[in-house]
Amino acid sequence: MFYFKYLTRLLLTLFTTALLITGSRAADDPGLPVMDVYKNPACGCCHGWITHLAQNGFITVAHDMDDLSPLKTENNIEPRYESCHTAISKNGYVFEGHVPAKTIRRFLLERPKDAIGLTVPGMVAGSPGMEYGDNFTPYSVLLLKKDGSSRVYARIKIQKEQY
Ligand code: CU
Ligand code: CU
Repeated sequence: MFYFKYLTRLLLTLFTTALLITGSRAADDPGLPVMDVYKNPACGCCHGWITHLAQNGFITVAHDMDDLSPLKTENNIEPRYESCHTAISKNGYVFEGHVPAKTIRRFLLERPKDAIGLTVPGMVAGSPGMEYGDNFTPYSVLLLKKDGSSRVYARIKIQKEQY
């Protein structure tokens, strides 16, 4: 009986601590904008990426859509830059595909001139939300510019670099 009471109290404490940590992490980051994430309802890896963002203090609002093409065109994401989902921050930047949360943070701090956002084109094995065992393909995060051009913003050579 005593142990049961003790265990319950311990679990409660752990739970409260977890809540506090989660809450304060978001509060520590007033600069992180809310992200609207547009995705196909059947996409599992999109959900994985949303979880990755949440674990890194972002607040996301998911929107399911059957056809994302018009949205991508509207936001100047050319087909060569496309991935599965499109996130749009409340301050107007686009983040296409499995972009690491830490690279988004860096981008939001630097706000590079003439940039509309970031993309990881395609579906790279082992990128955030696409983890599957040891599978990992090195990739680049591209910075998208207003004129439709792009440049390499970050190179992720080994998987742990992206966290
Ligand atoms: Cu995906
Ligand atoms: Cu996705």
